Amino acid sequence: MIRLSLALVACLATPAIADEYDAIKAQAGERLFDKECHRCHSVEADRASYGPLLNGVLNRAAGTFADYPYSDALRGAGFVWTSGALKAWMEDNDGFLPGTKMRHVGIDDPTVQDFIVTYLASLTE
Ligand code: HEC
Repeated sequence: MIRLSLALVACLATPAIADEYDAIKAQAGERLFDKECHRCHSVEADRASYGPLLNGVLNRAAGTFADYPYSDALRGAGFVWTSGALKAWMEDNDGFLPGTKMRHVGIDDPTVQDFIVTYLASLTE
């Protein structure tokens, strides 16, 4: 009976812990985003800055933020921004999509990639 209750508690607690863990990762991701991306990308306003708006980019089709003057490469890319695509982009954007006009950022630390994606995901929830 005790074992059953413990199992029940573990089941109930797990989503809460996962949420808290994601919230912590998102906080760290926000600071990394401010350092690595914010000078070119807005997330606050419904507009682009030098780069396209990134609020809502997760699961958005690439190159489709309204009125942004994308490169031909990104406008015609025809894929959706999954977390995997965002990580590959951060690591080597011009290798991932030759012809993009985004300057190479080269973030190859998987933890940093993960934190930034978690932050971007938290903006769309
Ligand atoms: C020096 C300025 C600059 C920096 C720094 C920068 N970007 Fe960009 N980003 C751009 C530009 C310009 C584009 C548009 C590229 C094109 O049209 O080919 C872009 C495009 C993108 C896109 C495609 C969005 C869409 O609507 O399809 C994503 C995703 C993105 N950047 C993520 C990031 C992330 C994450 C970081 C930080 C790790 C970052 N960028 C850092 C300038 C920058």
